[in-house]
Amino acid sequence: MSEAVAQTVASRFSELYGAEPHGVWAAPGRVNLIGEHTDYNDGFVMPFALPHTAVAAVARRDDGILRLHSADVESGVTELRLDALSPESDKTWTAYPAGVVWALREAGHAITGADIHLSSTVPSGAGLSSSAALEVVVALALNDLFSLGLRGWQLARLCQRAENVYVGAPVGIMDQTASACCETGHALFLDTRDLSQKQIPFDLAAEGMRLLVVDTQVKHSHSEGEYGKRRAGCEKGAALLGVDALRDIPYADLDAALARLGDEEEVRRLVRHIVTENARVERVVSLLESGETRAIGPVLIEGHASLRDDFRISCPELDLVVDTALASGALGARMTGGGFGGSAIVLAEEQDVDAITKTVTEAFASAGFTTPRVFEAVPSPGARRLH
Ligand code: GLA
Repeated sequence: MSEAVAQTVASRFSELYGAEPHGVWAAPGRVNLIGEHTDYNDGFVMPFALPHTAVAAVARRDDGILRLHSADVESGVTELRLDALSPESDKTWTAYPAGVVWALREAGHAITGADIHLSSTVPSGAGLSSSAALEVVVALALNDLFSLGLRGWQLARLCQRAENVYVGAPVGIMDQTASACCETGHALFLDTRDLSQKQIPFDLAAEGMRLLVVDTQVKHSHSEGEYGKRRAGCEKGAALLGVDALRDIPYADLDAALARLGDEEEVRRLVRHIVTENARVERVVSLLESGETRAIGPVLIEGHASLRDDFRISCPELDLVVDTALASGALGARMTGGGFGGSAIVLAEEQDVDAITKTVTEAFASAGFTTPRVFEAVPSPGARRLH
């Protein structure tokens, strides 16, 4: 399967650029099991990689030119000069790969040019990290072709910098690390403060369960302000409480912290979400490690309520997925990713999957919403060389 994909992407590269690529790489999108908006608060997250990937065929160049092409966008080859790359100058898809080249060069790595052809199956705007997949696949390809010797977490940091500074989206580190570091059959328990990681076995099929992703088809964009406002609110909370990051407020101290915030109602809600969400990640890890997988369902449900009521980033479509899935027997459900649209996840017994899918789809039709896209998510490999 991945061999066939690699061949297709490599042949398209040859048609476009008139020579064989020097290699073909893949990097996945991710779905986050639990730990939302905790990453820019130095907290915990727990994503796993999707089978959907961004694939890049790449050849190195030594003349200071970067050429970019995507199978998914109707435009020709974009040609850029490396010494002219400049942050926030590009509002199109090319900012992601160009931003990675810029970030690598800024960090002192001697990238001298490349021809890149990209093709992605990660749904865009669905909260499944299509941007991180694009960034990480380019970073990994250049890491190999220019023998940079960088580790997955280092590539993730550079990709985050590309997105923060070059693209101009104030995202955290979760998505890039998930794409770079996840492993088949595992969820990644990541401490975003120091990027320490633990791979947690997560094989739902072996226990008769499934995890569905329901893409509401409501598009979201992180550069559009609300994400940045939440981030600024969290930073204000940390400053008022005298800590480096909200991660430093232990769950046991939550009530005292909220009391200290007095009448800062909005900040109180944000702080309550982050502190309880970090605790939920730790609970999910310990439940999975002790084999109590079904017991994570209620934790996911609590997580959704917290994102909806305290962090206020859900939307009617996401709430409808969660409510109807739970009403038709799901073990747990919650929105996943940045919010304001995108996808929800549903944890269900295998035998309930068809009924849940049908009920959710019918509920969307009755509400007059666009038909959602439902698929099963299986923890898949992180970024890798295909060819
Ligand atoms: C987006 C960002 C991540 C993270 C999530 C919310 O996916 O890219 O860094 O903040 O939202 O958990």
